[in-house]
Amino acid sequence: MSLLEILPNLEERIAGLVARHKTAAAGIDWSYSDYLPLDAYHARESHPQLSEATYVAVETALLTEVNLPWYTSALHEGMKGAPDSMREFVHVWTSEEDQHSLLLETYLLLTNNGDHRARMKQRKVTVYTGYQHDMGGPVEAMAYTSIQEMATRAFYICTAEACQQEAPDLARALQRIAKDETLHMAFYRDVVKAHLDSDPDYIEPIAKAIVEFQMPGYILEDYRQRSEYLARTKIFGPEHFYKQVMQVLWAYWGLDEAMEKLSPERRAALRLDKYRSAMQKLSSRYERQAGDESKIVVPATVSYRPSGSTNGISNGHSD
Ligand SMILES: [Fe+2]
Ligand SMILES: [Fe+2]
Repeated sequence: MSLLEILPNLEERIAGLVARHKTAAAGIDWSYSDYLPLDAYHARESHPQLSEATYVAVETALLTEVNLPWYTSALHEGMKGAPDSMREFVHVWTSEEDQHSLLLETYLLLTNNGDHRARMKQRKVTVYTGYQHDMGGPVEAMAYTSIQEMATRAFYICTAEACQQEAPDLARALQRIAKDETLHMAFYRDVVKAHLDSDPDYIEPIAKAIVEFQMPGYILEDYRQRSEYLARTKIFGPEHFYKQVMQVLWAYWGLDEAMEKLSPERRAALRLDKYRSAMQKLSSRYERQAGDESKIVVPATVSYRPSGSTNGISNGHSD
């Protein structure tokens, strides 16, 4: 059996996971409008502006979510030859992801946060750029997507915690999106686990997905600056990624136990040990780093423009 294929004897199990997801999603069915208190917004004379850090986090999430057409295209391609239930899940997932960018964009528009025109320009550039990922077969694609959904979930939860005081309605919306990401992650994670439990050789595509992992937002021109900014403001950085994403999936998939059964040569070839110690170091470095205001520079292309602000932020927009 090629590691590039889904195990045929798992088809029933995968169909069961799709059914489990549908039941859970139906139980928490929601509309983006549920999280936008229109009466309260209309009653306000002006809207409080989000802090710069919260705005950057939300805009970065939004610009990542808007590329959904290309993620669907990549997953659709990556699932060629996969069982029907798996391919159906891509449709379910797309339909649920669709309202994430809608909620974030509508929130920013209704509360008049940021420069809407500049943000739209950025959205167009993002969707024009698209997204490409060599999925390396369905199991690697599932492992990649598990990490990505888990990271997105953690990002929303951390941002919700950070903005709880300044914008409780936004925090509630972010927590809601995080619940969707949790359900998505659980599906992909369990398909991966089922493969690894059935055939330990699947550790190879899983390890490849881990050591080569990049968030889909990497296509943003200033993604590095945005990530650095969010790490320095302590909203979400390598320490969150390491502890809330990698360590959790690593333990769930039982990667240590799986690696113990391998010869030293095979284990080294996976590069997982090297990856983990590099991540550990990076995580501790960021954890030790106190928020140094002088080093926190908002990326130039962020369309943050607090009304009446004269704080000299370069918004990188032109009308
Ligand atoms: Fe999403
Ligand atoms: Fe997602």
